Amino acid sequence: MSSKFLLVKEKVKKFNKFLEVDGDKSISIRWLLLASQSIGISKAKNLLRSDDVLSAIKCLKKLGIKITLSNNQCVILGRGINGFKYKKNIVLNAGNSGTVGRLILSLLIKSPYKIKVIGDKSLSRRDFSRVINPLNEIGVKFYPRGKKKLPISILGSNYLRPISYFEKKGSAQCKTCVMFASLNTPGEMRIFAKKSRNHSELMFNYLNIPIKISSGRDIDIIKTSSPYKLNKFNINIPGDISSGAFFIALTLLSKNSQLTLKNINLNPTRLGILKILKKMGADIKTSNIKINNGERCGDIFVKSTNKLKSINCPASLNSSAIDEFLIIFLIAAKSKGISYFKDLSELNKKESPRLKLGSKILNMIGIKTKLTNSSIKIYGNPNINLNKEYEIKNYLKDHRIMAMCTIAALTFGGNWKIYDPESIKTSFPSFLKILRNKFGVKI
Ligand code: S3P
Repeated sequence: MSSKFLLVKEKVKKFNKFLEVDGDKSISIRWLLLASQSIGISKAKNLLRSDDVLSAIKCLKKLGIKITLSNNQCVILGRGINGFKYKKNIVLNAGNSGTVGRLILSLLIKSPYKIKVIGDKSLSRRDFSRVINPLNEIGVKFYPRGKKKLPISILGSNYLRPISYFEKKGSAQCKTCVMFASLNTPGEMRIFAKKSRNHSELMFNYLNIPIKISSGRDIDIIKTSSPYKLNKFNINIPGDISSGAFFIALTLLSKNSQLTLKNINLNPTRLGILKILKKMGADIKTSNIKINNGERCGDIFVKSTNKLKSINCPASLNSSAIDEFLIIFLIAAKSKGISYFKDLSELNKKESPRLKLGSKILNMIGIKTKLTNSSIKIYGNPNINLNKEYEIKNYLKDHRIMAMCTIAALTFGGNWKIYDPESIKTSFPSFLKILRNKFGVKI
C-alpha cells in the first residue's frame, strides 16, 4: 500500500453527457502480440495506454521488437512468426496483467533459452497452471517443474505437437494461449472451449490465419493452424465496455441523469453487463452499430431510473460479464429485492478475490450479503444513502475495486478515503480525469 489516497466526499450532480472511454484492453494486448508476429509496420489508433498494455510493450521490446508510441498512434515493426531476438537471461515483467503474462508464454514456445516471466504481487498469486498444462502438452518445458505461479521460466522446443484442448472455465486467456501457440506448432490445434470473449477468433479471421469455428450452445469447437506468414495490419481500437461500465453504473445510480458512450466495443461476447442490467430494469439502448476490423462497435445510451430490481443471474452470462461483476454488485445493492449470482468461483481468481472483497465492501456500507466460494446473495436497499466514513485499503491494488468504490462514493454518499488510486491506471488511465473534467467531480 502506498501513502497516496483519494478523498471523495460529494455525490455527482445530475448530468447529461456524451463520453468516450479509453481503448479496449483485450483488443489492445492482442493487437500488440499478433502485430509483433507479423511482417512489417503495423499501426494502431486509440491503443489503450494503461499499465497492462505498457507491460505488453515492454515485454515485446525486450524480445527485440521495435515499438513507438506517439500522440494517438502506436507503431510496431513486426519480425514475423517467432521473429523474436532471443538472448540468454531475459526476464519479462507482466506487471499486474494476467492476459499479458499468460499470452506472452504462448509466443515463446520455440525459445532456445529459458525466459523468466515475473509479475507484481497480485499476479504472482494467480494460477498459471491453466496455461502451463496445455503448453506442456504441446512440448514446452517450465521451470521450476510443477510450479503453478509466477515467477516461472519457459524453455521452448523445436519438437512441438498440436493438441486437443478442453477449456472448461470459460477463460478467453486459456483459449487464446492455445490459439496463439498454433502459430508455431505444425498441424491443427483443436480447442473445445466453453464460451468466452472471442476477440482472438475475430482477429485470426481478420488476418486470414487458418481458423474454423463450429458454435454449439455452450461450447465452441475451434481449429487453428499456422499461416505461411502473417501480414502487417492496422487497427482502430474502440472503447472498452469494461471501462464504460463504471459510467453506466454512475448514471443508473444517480438521479435524473443520462449518458451516451460513443464508439464502444459491442462484441456480443462482452455484452453480459447490458443483458444483466436490462433484466434489472435499466433503460439501455445501443445505436450506430458498425463493424470495425472485424469487431462490432457502436454507442450506448443509458438513463437513470428508480425502478431497478433484483436479478437471479443466469450463470450462462458469467463469462460475458466477468470483469463487470463488481460494478453489477454495486447496482444490485441499490436494487429492490435479493439478487443472486452463482458459479462465480473464477471471480476470486482475478487481480484480487473479487467475490470476497466485493461482498466485504457491500457489508461495510450496510448491505447484507450471503457469500459462498462461488456465489453471492445481495439484499438490495433502494434507499441506500451513506453518511459515515469509509476507508478502502489492502485490496491488492485491484483497479476495478478502486473504480467500484469511487462510483459508490459518488452515488451513495459518505466520506470515502480510497488508498492506491493509481491502481486504476492498470486498465483505465483517464478514469479520474473524466470524472473531474467532464462531470465536475471534486476528488
Ligand atoms: C481477458 C479475459 C478474462 C478477463 C481479463 C481479460 C482477455 O480473463 O477477466 O480481464 O483479454 O482474454 P479470463 O480469461 O481469465 O476469464
